[in-house]
Amino acid sequence: MDPTLSDRAQWLRRELHRHSHRYHVLDDPEISDAEYDRLFRELVELEDQYPQLQTPDSPTLRVGAPPLEKFESAAHTLPMLSLENAFAAEEVQAFHRRVQRQLEGIEDIRYTAEPKLDGLAVELVYRDGSLVRALTRGDGFTGEVITRNIRTIPAVPLTLRTAGAGPLPALLEVRGEVFINREDFGNLNEERLAKGETPFANPRNAAAGSLRQLDSRITATRPLDMFVYGAGRLSDLLCRSHVEMLSAFRSLGFKVNPLVRGPIRLEEALSFYEELTQKRHDLPYEIDGLVIKVDDLESQATLGATSRTPRWAVAYKFPATQETTRVLRIEVQVGRTGVLTPVAHLEPVPIGGVTVRRATLHNEDEVRRKDVRIGDTVLVQRAGDVIPEVVKVVSSKRRGTEIPFTMPKRCPQCGSAAVRLVGEAATRCLNTSCPAQLKGSIAHFASKGAFDIEGLGTRHIDQMVEKGLLTSAADLFFLDHGTVEGLERMGPKSAENLLAVISARKTISLDRFIYALGVRHVGEHAARLLAEHLPTLQALMKLSEAEIAEIDGIGPVMASSIHRFFRQPENREVVQRLLDAGVRIQASQRVEDDRLSGRTFVMTGALQTLSRSEAKNRIEAAGGRVTGSVSAQTDFLVTGASPGSKLNKARDLGVEVIDEDRLLEMLGAAADSA
Ligand code: IVH
Repeated sequence: MDPTLSDRAQWLRRELHRHSHRYHVLDDPEISDAEYDRLFRELVELEDQYPQLQTPDSPTLRVGAPPLEKFESAAHTLPMLSLENAFAAEEVQAFHRRVQRQLEGIEDIRYTAEPKLDGLAVELVYRDGSLVRALTRGDGFTGEVITRNIRTIPAVPLTLRTAGAGPLPALLEVRGEVFINREDFGNLNEERLAKGETPFANPRNAAAGSLRQLDSRITATRPLDMFVYGAGRLSDLLCRSHVEMLSAFRSLGFKVNPLVRGPIRLEEALSFYEELTQKRHDLPYEIDGLVIKVDDLESQATLGATSRTPRWAVAYKFPATQETTRVLRIEVQVGRTGVLTPVAHLEPVPIGGVTVRRATLHNEDEVRRKDVRIGDTVLVQRAGDVIPEVVKVVSSKRRGTEIPFTMPKRCPQCGSAAVRLVGEAATRCLNTSCPAQLKGSIAHFASKGAFDIEGLGTRHIDQMVEKGLLTSAADLFFLDHGTVEGLERMGPKSAENLLAVISARKTISLDRFIYALGVRHVGEHAARLLAEHLPTLQALMKLSEAEIAEIDGIGPVMASSIHRFFRQPENREVVQRLLDAGVRIQASQRVEDDRLSGRTFVMTGALQTLSRSEAKNRIEAAGGRVTGSVSAQTDFLVTGASPGSKLNKARDLGVEVIDEDRLLEMLGAAADSA
């Protein structure tokens, strides 16, 4: 073998690690995905031809390896403890007083405060800079060896970076949380549903299920991510404080949560907690509290640990998102695809700051499995923006007078037969002109990810369908002022606004258009995949089922559903009427518009004309990038009404601050060139 090939392999490995780190950890890629793929394929081919060139840290191993029979277990060198919980500021203050007492002589105690991620704790072991082993937390003393699975996570460095961090530690045990962010979780479930698989209940279960796969090739397809927050045993890593340690980890190539704050006083940690309770649902991942840690490592050592928890840290948890209440009645809703969903109407109960009155029971099997009856006391859960659901019945509260629920044999909206098809959990109304389906499909059409028609509420839609003013979503574009103003709960000003919004939405990207049609199994993610592959809607409508199934990421169930949708004359007619109404579809393929390419934007405050997601889509369509927080890499901060703390940060860093008009100008210029 030509010795230069070994040099080439080494160079490729280094480059691939560097670019993967820039992309997944720093969120600041230097090369395009296509260029990355080219380098990756070159390395795969080299290793295929000369297997002796594949090293244990090769990025090609990120794709997973053949399945294991079972996981081995192994002991943690230092136990992985859990955390003491606090549910009120007083409990955190009590913790602080205890720390003060035990650290007598140290007046001014500083803390680090970190969002508590709801994922899985793991430990990564590096020897001389290479990842050699990864363990789950297990019972805290012994965990399962999941090294192959961990290798597939792009945010995990396979080799440590040396830049600026001095010599590499001989031994490094790093601990952190593996998780899946909300958007990826949604996409993953969408794909599973389309493949006829059961969706995961929440991101945490999805992360756990993905990480504990015996076949790491499956893990490799799951969107796992990881933040590191602590250490096991370390050698030669000289840090005096927790914050210093985290920044050393960052330099070594790990991903550390950018929201970590420290060193700060206790009061600041408490106000950070308040801030997070407001912000938590806008974060891309789920958190369940704030971990407050004594920052000074020597003080940590002095404080030590009990058998279960360290004395230098406390988890200040957010208020419960589960409560018990009573089921008053169970009603059946009919959705846009004709699916009948049993919904429990509850005695109103506040959960996490919102009054919950209804909770979904999903379907007949779920009602039966949980055995939910009218009059039961139930545990209800609200997580993030998702619809509240009944978790279980509190059976000790059963009195025997509760009434079991049976699924109706007829659609409660139109009276046609409701049937359950073989192999499906859902009961459906088969009448395609059922008004409930029409109402639901129009509401979907107008929803945020679709045509985003703000100001059009479900009440308005219901009225218009009932009056025969809307027979399909296309009719929205033919509404006149008189009709809209005549609706209940609609003044002249809101009527005018609504019509203006409808007219402004006539130009729409292809992916939104596809999503808006409400094809079964086609969510936002799938719609985006389709739009990226096809120049026009007409091209999609012409494809055969087999051709659709060939598109990367589109499974057979989805392909068949899409194909069937466009074969139906009523659906083709709606598409035609939309086009006749003047709806213009813009290709959402990566347009050759690069006016904003290489420019990074951050948004703060409420914009006037554009919604956040619209602004993001348009910036991206023009080749720009949108990120969540201001850093030295940010080019522009776009400010709307009442901007947040990002504005100060931008000023500190000298980032250019622009308003929405200026953004529109930049976008306008970008669109002109397309
Ligand atoms: S420190 C010895 N920091 O919470 C202290 N834990 O309830 C070790 N967790 O098992 C934990 N985010 O899975 C720490 N920033 C964070 C965390 C965090 C999430 C989890 C971790 C741990 C559990 C304890």
